[in-house]
Amino acid sequence: MKLALAPLPYAESALDPYVSARTVHEHYESHHAGYLRKLAKLIEGKPEEQLSLEELIRTSTGDVFENAAQVWNHDFYWRSMRPDGGGPPDKAMAATLVDAFGSVANCKQQIAEAASERFGSGWVWLTRDEKGRLRVESSANADNPMQSGRIPLLTLDVWEHAYYLDYQSERDRYVKGFLDHLLDWTFVAENLESAQDAIQEAPEDDD
Ligand code: FE2
Repeated sequence: MKLALAPLPYAESALDPYVSARTVHEHYESHHAGYLRKLAKLIEGKPEEQLSLEELIRTSTGDVFENAAQVWNHDFYWRSMRPDGGGPPDKAMAATLVDAFGSVANCKQQIAEAASERFGSGWVWLTRDEKGRLRVESSANADNPMQSGRIPLLTLDVWEHAYYLDYQSERDRYVKGFLDHLLDWTFVAENLESAQDAIQEAPEDDD
């Protein structure tokens, strides 16, 4: 695998004021790029160098896992947001969310609660499980739902470095900005479509 820092899908200032250019710059250039540099150093000249990030997340432990997952999680996080996001999802996505959570508002509420309840550093996820059910969950530190066979559809970084410059310790205000103004439902819909394709290819399970 050739390790490379995926480009940001928008300008550093594009998420302002909900996530400032200063935060995006620090987060991307120092934290995200830093995990990639550490990972490259850890696997240099080793068999792990041949594996994809997803394979490293599923099979490695310790520092290699932590850094590989943080690279993947951050890339997924940048793509979970867009400028002028957070509005209502399209009809099909809305119907899926109503089916799974009762309403779009309930889904967002569950994400907000999971973010608020996650102690210390971690991530909040919207995922699809092996049986096709959607759920909101959170993980500690670098952990990723792929480790447990679930497919990530959306993520929110709740490490302090994601919001401290803009909101200090007020994580809830950062989460509200994400949910109401940045969240990209189109990205969720695309991931859901890929997940459905993968599930259709998997063997049937009728319980
Ligand atoms: Fe982060």
